[in-house]
Amino acid sequence: MTKDFLILGGESTLAKYFTQTYKERCVSLNKSKCDITDIKILEKVIQKSDAHYIINCAAITDIGYAEKNPEECFNVNSISVRNLDTLSRKYNKKLIHLSSDYAVNPTNVYGYSKLISEKLIDKSKNLVIRTSFYSNKYYIIKSLVSGNVTNAYKNAFFNPVSINRLIEEIYKNRDKKGILNIFTERKISKYKFAIKVAKTFDVDRKLIQPSNFVNEKGKANLPPNSFVDSDIKIPLEEDLLSFKKHFVPFRS
Ligand SMILES: NC(=O)c1ccc[n+]([C@@H]2O[C@H](COP(=O)([O-])OP(=O)(O)OC[C@H]3O[C@@H](n4cnc5c(N)ncnc54)[C@H](OP(=O)(O)O)[C@@H]3O)[C@@H](O)[C@H]2O)c1
Repeated sequence: MTKDFLILGGESTLAKYFTQTYKERCVSLNKSKCDITDIKILEKVIQKSDAHYIINCAAITDIGYAEKNPEECFNVNSISVRNLDTLSRKYNKKLIHLSSDYAVNPTNVYGYSKLISEKLIDKSKNLVIRTSFYSNKYYIIKSLVSGNVTNAYKNAFFNPVSINRLIEEIYKNRDKKGILNIFTERKISKYKFAIKVAKTFDVDRKLIQPSNFVNEKGKANLPPNSFVDSDIKIPLEEDLLSFKKHFVPFRS
């Protein structure tokens, strides 16, 4: 059977979820099979692939590591994305690249590397998906669902979407071009998000310890507000309920 999707960064949370859901239609390659910084391997892989869509999930996502290793981060998250864009056009493929809420008003190396990746893509041909997502691995969800205490910031705001909904939207919008923002509708603090998670999963709210986030000198600067207006209307309550329906606890 012809595979429609070539997934790069195959060990990432997002790639694994996408591949599990659309098993029959995906070929997924991890870093050992396709290191996106190796342009020769990248070209060979793309040239040989039958897939029309290339989903790039490969990235340095550890914000602290990125801050300490900016050269490596820009090489993986920005330069390799330019190569991917060029090669996808050369072989008549459609690139779907994952960017981040942190790219909108960048405050750290990771955010800047993602912003540059967006600028290096030919958006008249390819698609950038900007997002922030939660899964069973997200610390607030992982702790609360297993009955453990979690800290949650009252002064840090975001609007993440569930991984389930995100992959559904990536699939649905695969033929779009340009930049597509996929988030839930409203800005919410991490503390209020934790409360909504507790309510959805019927967990004791006392497990949530409110705290205030402070950027520390010498560490990556995190934005206090990474809200991005979504192009798709997704209410958080509805998203959490549907996330719960498909929920499988995280096992490391
Ligand atoms: N998680 C979120 O909320 C979020 C928010 C916004 C945007 N995104 C974006 O969505 C995408 C997927 O995120 P995720 O959280 O699922 O990622 P993840 O779990 O952190 O995984 C990233 C993967 O990229 C791989 N990788 C690193 N360098 C590579 C290279 N040179 N060649 C090939 N693979 C390489 C890593 O492999 P190794 O571990 O072996 O190095 C890792 O498996 C990323 O682009 C991320 O920036 C995620």
